[in-house]
Amino acid sequence: AKLLVLHGPNLNLLGTREPGVYGHTTLPQIEQALQAQAAAAGHSAESLQSNAEHTLVDRVQAARTDGTAFILINPAAFTHTSVALRDALAAVDVPFIEIHLSNPHAREPFRQHSYFSDKAVGVICGFGADSYRYAMDAALQRLSAS
Ligand code: DQA
Repeated sequence: AKLLVLHGPNLNLLGTREPGVYGHTTLPQIEQALQAQAAAAGHSAESLQSNAEHTLVDRVQAARTDGTAFILINPAAFTHTSVALRDALAAVDVPFIEIHLSNPHAREPFRQHSYFSDKAVGVICGFGADSYRYAMDAALQRLSAS
């Protein structure tokens, strides 16, 4: 099956962006590891990072007809702002897992509300780059069970 991995704004800077909060792993390293993890289970993963809300909305809309079976998404700052991206995910009706490197619940109050969590299959946060690995593991389990 096809999995889609989406990364929101500023995650292109991973590795150098506030490493004390987000770690030293770069986005290409994360994407490569996720692709290998999916391939080892007989699936494929495609990734997209964008700083633009409309690009992410368009990509989610395309998932409605391109055979995407599961979405992994770190909406980054859009977590706390984007009704549009939430609505897109609800519209396509593809199951998704919400991911964060940091634990937003242990940070500023404005990070403690997510527009995605109540629609997600589950939320994984606080494990740095490993959050993505755990989320992919959960998605692959779901796919093999279905
Ligand atoms: C983040 C947490 C968000 O609050 C923040 O805006 C990000 C990254 C995370 O992965 O920890 O950009 O989604």
